[in-house]
Amino acid sequence: MTNALIHVQRLTKRYPEGAVRRTVLDGFDLTIQRGEAVALMGPSGSGKSTLLNLIGAMERPDSGAVWFDGTDLAELDETERTLFRRRRLGFIFQQLNLVPTLTVLENLLLPLELNRALDRGARRRAQALLERVGLPERGDSYPERLSGGERQRVAVARALVHGPDLLLADEPTGSLDAQTAGVVLDLFDELRREYGMTAVIATHAPDVAERADRVVELRRRAHAGGSAA
Ligand SMILES: Nc1ncnc2c1ncn2[C@@H]1O[C@H](COP(=O)(O)OP(=O)(O)OP(=O)(O)O)[C@@H](O)[C@H]1O
Ligand SMILES: [Mg+2]
Repeated sequence: MTNALIHVQRLTKRYPEGAVRRTVLDGFDLTIQRGEAVALMGPSGSGKSTLLNLIGAMERPDSGAVWFDGTDLAELDETERTLFRRRRLGFIFQQLNLVPTLTVLENLLLPLELNRALDRGARRRAQALLERVGLPERGDSYPERLSGGERQRVAVARALVHGPDLLLADEPTGSLDAQTAGVVLDLFDELRREYGMTAVIATHAPDVAERADRVVELRRRAHAGGSAA
């Protein structure tokens, strides 16, 4: 038995577009150890977000498998997939996906509420995380009132507030200045040390990749694709 948290085996993902099927991942293999931080790099369109979505059970592969902590994600039904994401994952999406009608603090408390884990201790942790990402006084603001980088930091805090086993982060420092990006990356490192969180981070930033334990390069595929029929 290894200490791996994730086994990605011969993963293939194609997207139909008109008459062709565009192959994004083709027999892709990857093993990630518990507590490891892996940076996904590669040109735009090479499949970084797609891979994060497959590992996070947001999408299903055409073939191949993702194993998480000994479970083949394909064997989970929709309810189990939802609970898996809610309880075990923290996701920072490339488009952030903050809820515009909720305040910053309400956005942060949402994962806890969904997990029925919203007690006073949880509220304290949410506030502490807001402080750690440098937004101690923005809890009552609405996302549209924040700058891009401030929103990104809220998304970071929201992904971490329930103590996920695995952080899936898509360009988490894309709109941050170097110093603020450093604060966010320090936070990831602290949580990895504190409770062994594993992290997979898609990024174009060399300094983000440098801090990971390992860099995995995705290649942009030729867009020949097979027939969709
Ligand atoms: N839902 C979808 N439907 C059709 N094609 C898709 C879909 N999602 C992604 N693709 C295609 O898959 C390819 C890989 O996209 P993906 O978003 O994974 O790239 P990426 O490496 O994250 O790029 P970037 O660095 O720009 O974020 C792209 O060519 C994209 O057009
Ligand atoms: Mg992407």
